Order: sequence, then structure tokens, then C-alpha cells
Amino acid sequence: MLSSVRNRLAPSVVAVLAAVLLCCRATTAVSYTPADQQPTRFMHIDLNGAAAGGADAYADNAVPYRGVCLGGWFVLEPWIVPSLFNPHINGTFNNHSVWDEYSLVNYIGMKDATPMMLEHWDTWITEADIAEVAQAGITDVRLPVGYWMLNPLPNETWVPGETYFFDRFLGWARKYNIRVLLDLHGAPGSQNGQDHSGHRGPLDWDTDLTVQTLKMFILYIRDHGFTDVIHAIELVNEPWWSVDPKIVQDFYVNAYSAIRQSSPSFTNTLNIVFHDNFNMNAWGGIMEPPAYTNLFQDSHQYHCFDNSLLAMDYAGHLNYTCNNTRPAIVTANKYHPTFMGEWSLATTDCPQWANGFLNGNRWEGTLSPGDPVFGKCTGNFGTDVTQFTPDYRAFLRQFTEMQMDAYEAASGWYFWTLKTESAPQWDFLMGLREGWIPNPVTKREYHC
Ligand SMILES: *[C@@H]1O[C@H](CO)[C@@H](O)[C@H](O)[C@H]1NC(C)=O
Ligand SMILES: *[C@@H]1O[C@H](CO)[C@@H](O)[C@H](O)[C@H]1NC(C)=O
Ligand SMILES: *[C@@H]1O[C@H](CO)[C@@H](O)[C@H](O)[C@H]1NC(C)=O
Ligand SMILES: *[C@@H]1O[C@H](CO)[C@@H](O)[C@H](O)[C@H]1NC(C)=O
Ligand SMILES: *[C@@H]1O[C@H](CO)[C@@H](O)[C@H](O)[C@H]1NC(C)=O
Repeated sequence: MLSSVRNRLAPSVVAVLAAVLLCCRATTAVSYTPADQQPTRFMHIDLNGAAAGGADAYADNAVPYRGVCLGGWFVLEPWIVPSLFNPHINGTFNNHSVWDEYSLVNYIGMKDATPMMLEHWDTWITEADIAEVAQAGITDVRLPVGYWMLNPLPNETWVPGETYFFDRFLGWARKYNIRVLLDLHGAPGSQNGQDHSGHRGPLDWDTDLTVQTLKMFILYIRDHGFTDVIHAIELVNEPWWSVDPKIVQDFYVNAYSAIRQSSPSFTNTLNIVFHDNFNMNAWGGIMEPPAYTNLFQDSHQYHCFDNSLLAMDYAGHLNYTCNNTRPAIVTANKYHPTFMGEWSLATTDCPQWANGFLNGNRWEGTLSPGDPVFGKCTGNFGTDVTQFTPDYRAFLRQFTEMQMDAYEAASGWYFWTLKTESAPQWDFLMGLREGWIPNPVTKREYHC
């Protein structure tokens, strides 16, 4: 039984993971190959700039997906909602600082954490937000959830009550004709040791409990009547690059069959999504049809957590998108329909706590001693968008459109994330309102 990954990691790896930060939303290093043709296995539709809502846009496997992720909602991340964490900057729990949802809630205690979380769930994402993105041509959302929503472990305390807000959101999604990819972002024991799994620290991923959690979500969706809204389920988000790929694959195989068997009238055709374990082009020949059907690959690409990308100028970022990532995702798409499930417009890691609570950043060289310095987190890279120069806004528009174009050459994209408190390049609604994200999202001038 591969129920625990911990035994397979050297203690030094565990220690490094405990210390490593959100840093390694890894980039995929691949060599340049010519762009391939469009995939033919899946219907390719073009909304021609129309707002979402047509029957075609809702067709089950219609690609490309044009989506946003709803980050920081059911799984807190300090950099998305720093206002919840900053008042507890001196707080400690289990001998470490408050640095993720679990430690925040347990440090504050249920009496105060419950009203805080209820208020957050009620207000962070609203029906008006969903209406606004649907109007802009968004057809899909990727919804991160933690296991604790349905399967809080007996040895842990979490604030209960998320399911009310989950149901309410799914009702909005139905109303605005938005398809939902349910993404298990936090797995029992933590699949990556990052704050965005709910637990920062040791990587003690329990794959059996993760399969159990996925089955609970399936039954919940079925019995609460949301099988029309949830068209896909992601087995787990970002299992860490240091986890043995064999463990990840075995988990995917087990979880896939458990879901297919769990409620066949619903799950026989439900789309199932696997994250590529930060290795976009490693999945050819693995879990292929006809044994595996309706199986999608989720890849993530950021330009701000890697020194070689941080060193690029604007033209370099555009070139990388079109001449590196595009051919890579098009190749992956030949084996499994592949979408870019997380991407942003950030070319610096400047937002407060972008690398984890109380940590510095690579851009100003404050993450680790002796790091190179790339620039300052002010002006274009500060939080006040009125300081953004016209040239920089023009770059953001180009970078947005070229990324959308590159990912639509495969099976589409989900921007990370719908909104933030103070991270402009990560904030979809801000980009739409400020004009560097096209509205509708299909209204484009720049292509790869
Ligand atoms: C944290 O501790 C420092 C040093 O004692 C103090 O100056 C600061 O006000 C504290 N911050 C909060 C939010 O309590
Ligand atoms: C916290 O540190 C103290 C002193 O080093 C130690 O005795 C205790 O076991 C630690 N607690 C946890 C939860 O790690
Ligand atoms: C609770 O138990 C689970 C399963 O045994 C384990 O993976 C997890 O790390 C534990 N949680 C805490 C906070 O110790
Ligand atoms: C991609 O590479 C080609 C060939 O070198 C080049 O002409 C083109 O400008 C590059 N694309 C971008 C966006 O830089
Ligand atoms: C453009 O990207 C390709 C693929 O990553 C790379 O080989 C090439 O050197 C880049 N060109 C420039 C001008 O950056």
C-alpha cells in the first residue's frame, strides 16, 4: 500500500520541503519543436467573441476551455488574502509561524475563526463576479477545494460550513452556464507541503485517504444534484516534483478507477483531470485510450518563480510563450487533451507573501541570502496600478493574448486567479476592468 509518501522521502528532503516556499511552481523545460496541428479527437469550437451561454459553449467536451480559477476561497493562501493573515504576523502554532489555513484557524481558535471564515466564504466571491466573467466570455471555472470540506480528519480541526457556500456557488455556475472543474487542491497529509494545500510543512500525503475524499465528493455532487454543473474532477493539484513519479501514477490509476466505479451513471463519462507533476511532456503512453477515456492533463506555467525566466525582458517572455510553451503543450495535447490550468501575467514574484507568509522574493533578492537582485517591487511591479506605464500595460495585453492563443492551440486555459487583494498581475477581474485582459476574452490582436 502506498498510503504514505513520507517513508519514501529522505529526511533531508522532508526538511527541505518544510523550508521550501511556494517557490517551485515549476516551469517545464523542453526543447523547441515545431508547432503541431490542432487536436482532432475533441470538438474545437470558436465562440467568435460571443458571451458565454450558448448550448454549444456548454457541450460537455467542447474545447478550448476559457476559464478562471477561484483561488483563495475554499483554500486560503496568504498572498491572495493577506488581510486575514497579517493581523497574526506574530502568531505561532506548533512551533512555526501562522502560515496556512490550518495554522491560522487553529492559532485563532474556533470561536473567532468561525465568524472570520464564514464572512470570507460569503464575500470573497459573489454572484456578481460570476456574472461579470460569464459576460466576458469565460465558459469554465476551476474550483480549488480542500479535503476538509467533506472529509476533515479526526486528528484535525477546521472550520465547518463550507458546503453551504459550495452549493450556492454551483447554483450561480448553473445560472450563468459556467462549467465547473472541481480541483482537489488540498489532500490529506499534503501532496506538496505548500500553503496552498492547506498545510505548509512536511509532505505526508496519504493517497488512500485522498481516494476516499474524491469518492465523497462524487457522492456529494450526485446526491445534491450538481452533475450537470460539475463536468470534471481533478484528482489532486500539484503533487510535488520531489514525489516519486511512480507513486503519483499509481495514485492516478487507483483514483481513476475508483471514480469510474463509484457512481457509474454519473462517473462513466465524467471528465477526469490529472496534474502533470510539473513535467508536461512526460505523459505520452501513460493512461491512454481506450483503457482511459475522458482523461485530461492539467499543466501549469508561471514566469516568476525561476531565475532564468525572471531574467527575461518583455520580448523574451513573449518568445518563451510562443516558441517554448506553445509547442510543448501542443505536443502534450496529442496524448491527452491538455490545458493550462494555471497561468498569470506576473514576470516578478513581488506580491506580498508570493513565496509564502513572512518570506521575501526573488525579484529584490530577499528570498535567500546571496540571491541576485533583478529590480524593485515598485512602479510597474508595485500594487498601485495607477503607476503602471502605458508600455507596461501594452505588454500585459500582449502577454495575455499570446498566452491565451498558445494554450488554445491545445485544449485551453484557466487563469490563476479570479481576484486578489493586492497582486495586480494575478487578478483576472482587475485585468478585465483595467483593459489588459481583452473583453470579451476572444477579442484579440496578438497571436503566436
Ligand atoms: C509583532 O511584534 C512586533 C515586535 O514585537 C511588534 O512591533 C508588532 O507590532 C507586532 N505586530 C502585530 C501585528 O501584532
Ligand atoms: C515545540 O518545541 C518544543 C521545544 O523545543 C518541543 O518540546 C515541542 O515538542 C514542540 N512542539 C511541536 C508540536 O512540535
Ligand atoms: C492527521 O492524520 C493524517 C492521517 O493519519 C495525517 O496524514 C495528518 O498529517 C495528520 N494531521 C496532522 C495535523 O497531524
Ligand atoms: C518565435 O520564433 C520565431 C523564429 O525564431 C520568431 O520569428 C518569432 O518572433 C518568435 N516569437 C516571438 C513571440 O518572439
Ligand atoms: C526564443 O525561444 C526559443 C525557445 O525557447 C529559444 O531557443 C530562443 O533562443 C529564444 N529567442 C530569443 C531571441 O530569446
